Amino acid sequence: MRKPIIAGNWKMNKTISEAVSLVNSLKGLVVNTTDVEIIVAPSYISLSAVADAIKGSNIKLSAQDMYWEKNGAFTGEISPLMLKDTGCQFVIIGHSERRLYFAETNETVNKKVKSAHEYSIRPIMCVGEKLEEREAGTTKDIIKDHVINGLSGLTEEQMLATVIAYEPVWAIGTGKTATPDQAQEVHGFIRELISGIYSPSIADSVIIQYGGSVKPDNIAELMAKPDIDGGLIGGASLDAESFAKIVNYKA
Ligand code: PGA
Repeated sequence: MRKPIIAGNWKMNKTISEAVSLVNSLKGLVVNTTDVEIIVAPSYISLSAVADAIKGSNIKLSAQDMYWEKNGAFTGEISPLMLKDTGCQFVIIGHSERRLYFAETNETVNKKVKSAHEYSIRPIMCVGEKLEEREAGTTKDIIKDHVINGLSGLTEEQMLATVIAYEPVWAIGTGKTATPDQAQEVHGFIRELISGIYSPSIADSVIIQYGGSVKPDNIAELMAKPDIDGGLIGGASLDAESFAKIVNYKA
């Protein structure tokens, strides 16, 4: 049985004090949640303060990106060593906003995914097609390209520790969620790809999240699909009550 992982990607929102206040409110609302792994991904500058605030709670910490080198002359970048030191157990890699605005490619995604594993940080690798790609009927080609190239060279153990987030770009921040059937079709396809590269039993254990306009009122129908194992939540994770409702979708 795969334990769902629901992560809040706060993107470039919340000052340090706002981040701490958000996570403090969240803690109380999810204190009894044991059947879902809960993650928050604040901006780099808030990681330490949020790490302190969640000590002893059931909330885990993720960064939103990282560079692949351990240290050196890379002005403005943050390394996996630094993330590990801050208490990050997860890191989001290859979010479509990074692919779109910051020149992230499958190659850099793959370097980051491998580097995260070297520091035992679990990468949440994002994949997903743009609207024009869906309309052109190339969704599966794009997903295959992102999955195969992003995961290239991972050991079985690293594959098992990798989380994949399927995020159709047209559904992110638009209020247009993929229907549960549309999402399931791609999730099933991703699992088949992993099965082909690794094995059916490994594919069966990998967590595949859905992301893109997930809200308290659509999470349950998405989670009801056999290959959807959690969510990567943007806008709705910026409010403690709405994120808690998503995390507690079974309640
Ligand atoms: P959204 O963002 O929930 O605001 O659509 C999801 C994401 O980008 O991870």
